[in-house]
Parts: sequence; structure tokens; C-alpha cells
Amino acid sequence: MLALIGRYNYFLGGLFLVFLSGVMQPVLAAEPSSARQNELLALLKNDCGACHGLTLQGGMGPALLPETLSGKPDDFLVATILNGRKGTAMPPWQTFMTQDDALWLVHVLRKNKQ
Ligand code: HEC
Repeated sequence: MLALIGRYNYFLGGLFLVFLSGVMQPVLAAEPSSARQNELLALLKNDCGACHGLTLQGGMGPALLPETLSGKPDDFLVATILNGRKGTAMPPWQTFMTQDDALWLVHVLRKNKQ
């Protein structure tokens, strides 16, 4: 019985979180969990780094440094990451990450100090 109540609370807590994230969406884009952030950072280094350079200074793809990205809107960069760029080597990543993930990566790139 106790276990049941415990599970029910967990369920309610989950519902509340879903509700909260729905309400907070317009104010604050949902930030990926810290486990997911680690996955995304590994992806950035290993996969993105293969073309953009291990330190993102550029390689086959352009540098992804704060100064090269400044002036380019978040939406534009998020769309580039999710959809890739037709006719270029930049592949689409939408099967590997959500829009929130891509936005978080853009913020990481903007703050990147190399
Ligand atoms: C196979 C090579 C390749 C991989 C892997 C790759 N990119 Fe790219 N990326 C490119 C190329 C080439 C361009 C430039 C496209 C163009 O000419 O407009 C680009 C462009 C971009 C841009 C736009 C830069 C700008 O200044 O407009 C962003 C942002 C970006 N990539 C992020 C990423 C991220 C994040 C990943 C990993 C999830 C990634 N890329 C993986 C090749 C790659």
C-alpha cells in the first residue's frame, strides 16, 4: 500500500513537472538534463569536431567560435544544426537531437572560450 502511494506521488510529481515545463516554455527554453548535456558535449567534440575541428577552430567546416557566430541569429544556427545545409557537407542532426538540444549547443558555442 505504501509503495502504491509512493508511486502515485511520483506520478503526480511527473505530471507537475510536465505542467511546469509547459508553462515555462515561452520564458525559458527547456534546458537538457545534465546527463544529456554531457552527451551533447561529447557529440560536439567527436562528431561536430570531425569537420569543425577538435577545438572548433575550423577544418572542413567553418570555425564555430563566438566571433564567427556573432551576428547570426539563434534560429538560423539551430535550423542549420537540425536540418543541415543542402549542397554543403553540413549534415542534418534532427534524428540525434531536439530543438532544445540544438539551442543549448548554440549557447555553448557562443560562450566557448578557446
Ligand atoms: C561532415 C562534416 C560536418 C559535420 C560532421 C558537422 N558539420 Fe556543421 N558545417 C559543416 C559545413 C561544411 C558547414 C558550412 C556550410 C556552408 O557552407 O554554409 C557547416 C556549418 C555549420 C554551422 C553554421 C556556421 C555558420 O557560421 O553559419 C553550424 C552552427 C554548425 N555547422 C554546427 C554543427 C554542429 C553543432 C555539428 C555537430 C552536431 C556539426 N556542425 C557537424 C560541416 C559539418
